[in-house]
Amino acid sequence: MTATPEEPANPELLGRVADRFAEEFGAAPEGVWFAPGRINLVGAHLDYNGGDVLPLAVDLGVYCAARLRSDGAIRLRSLDQPLAVDLRVEDVRPTQDPVHGWASYVLGVWEEIREVYGTAPGFEMVVGGDVPMASGMSSSAALEIAAGLALSEMQGLGLRPIDLARLSHKAENDYIGVKCGIMDQYASALGRAGHALLIHCLDITYEHVEIHGSGFDVLVMDSKKPRTLAATYFNQRVDEVTEAHRILRDHVRDLPALAHFEFADVLAAADRLGPTLVKRARHVTTEMGRIAAGVHGLRKGDIAELGRALTASHWSTSVDYEVSCDELDMLVETASARSDVFGARLTGAGFGGCAIALVEPGAGDAVAADVGAKYQARFGVEPGFMVLHAGAGPRRVG
Ligand code: GLA
Repeated sequence: MTATPEEPANPELLGRVADRFAEEFGAAPEGVWFAPGRINLVGAHLDYNGGDVLPLAVDLGVYCAARLRSDGAIRLRSLDQPLAVDLRVEDVRPTQDPVHGWASYVLGVWEEIREVYGTAPGFEMVVGGDVPMASGMSSSAALEIAAGLALSEMQGLGLRPIDLARLSHKAENDYIGVKCGIMDQYASALGRAGHALLIHCLDITYEHVEIHGSGFDVLVMDSKKPRTLAATYFNQRVDEVTEAHRILRDHVRDLPALAHFEFADVLAAADRLGPTLVKRARHVTTEMGRIAAGVHGLRKGDIAELGRALTASHWSTSVDYEVSCDELDMLVETASARSDVFGARLTGAGFGGCAIALVEPGAGDAVAADVGAKYQARFGVEPGFMVLHAGAGPRRVG
């Protein structure tokens, strides 16, 4: 049973994905499915530390046109990536084969469905996105969730958004091999228009927090700096905080996650931790205060308070967690110095990609012009800008 299609946010892209499908595979797709990308307002690198995060799904994302096949072939195409992938169901391995590039995210979800539900049909799919790729806005989670929903609906599996989130997160950890937390897949799967999603990652509970009125616009600032080796550095951070947590547990007190310690605990174990792990643990333990302030500000409509939490979060991720770069620091510093900007920070894992600024409603163009000119003068690269809105979760759109 497939759902009745809803209005797509980007009908032009939907049309291109469907047209390419017909061109490649000689027939119309069975349907087209969409899942959103996300930005994270505050709670940087807290998900895999058992803390809280506050992402929101955006109105940009990934579209997948798909159809099942009965001959055991899998054929995957992308509007933006030249790599075409053709293989047979029996050739999908339990972990990613690097030759499959972008298509690994689709194959990873397919593999998890095979493991959990025991189904392994062939299929063909064309994907296209309007969320910037590999730049901190979870294009990969959006691809996983959209492909997962397509496979679920075409096979009548009835996966709920929460099932898609769990399955895609597992694909990312086990199939792709990135030790990411749950935030991206949950934000994409559970997004609700006009709301942010507060996730308590220790016990994996969540609530939607309404964004009242039009208190701010979200301006995305794309540094255009590629996130080379981001996965390697990301996994390194995960190893560091795992070690910091082990030391605190063994020598200070037994708490289930690093985010739930106080900074005083970190100081008490400073000698054993050493300077690098002290910095990592200082970010994690103090970020919990910043997310509490950010959530408080959002609930009260006090955008200035939310904005201060964002900017403070950025500098903690830059100085203590060391996942920023000169380009992102400059975007944040320049934007947050303006009186029409409430706050700014990098979004996603860091190491390049995008930053966001919370700006006064309607101020996006002025901020973009000013920050863009200064960025180009310093780095010789024109950054990308766009104003985003909190969008709804995954759905069939064609
Ligand atoms: C990446 C990961 C998420 C999260 C963020 C940092 O996007 O996939 O799980 O850890 O970085 O907040």
